[in-house]
Amino acid sequence: MSELPKIFKKGSMRFDVKKGVTYYWCACGLSSNQPFCDGSHKGTDFTPMQYTANEDKTVGFCGCKYSKNKPLCDGSHKFIETNE
Ligand code: FES
Repeated sequence: MSELPKIFKKGSMRFDVKKGVTYYWCACGLSSNQPFCDGSHKGTDFTPMQYTANEDKTVGFCGCKYSKNKPLCDGSHKFIETNE
């Protein structure tokens, strides 16, 4: 059975990305540097997801970790039924 991610925030996390820069999105929800990985996933089934920006822009990274369009927010947080 695979582990479920910890919900960090029920909403997107806007961030100004830079063209050509690679970011490592936290998939486990445990990082102290959200929405990015800080290595806290060690010992879990999770690994960070790589995202390379194709232009300078503002993106909304997934904060709840349940997006179907990871690492970006797709609005899935609206349908999560927990009180975390
Ligand atoms: S700390 Fe969450 S994936 Fe690395």
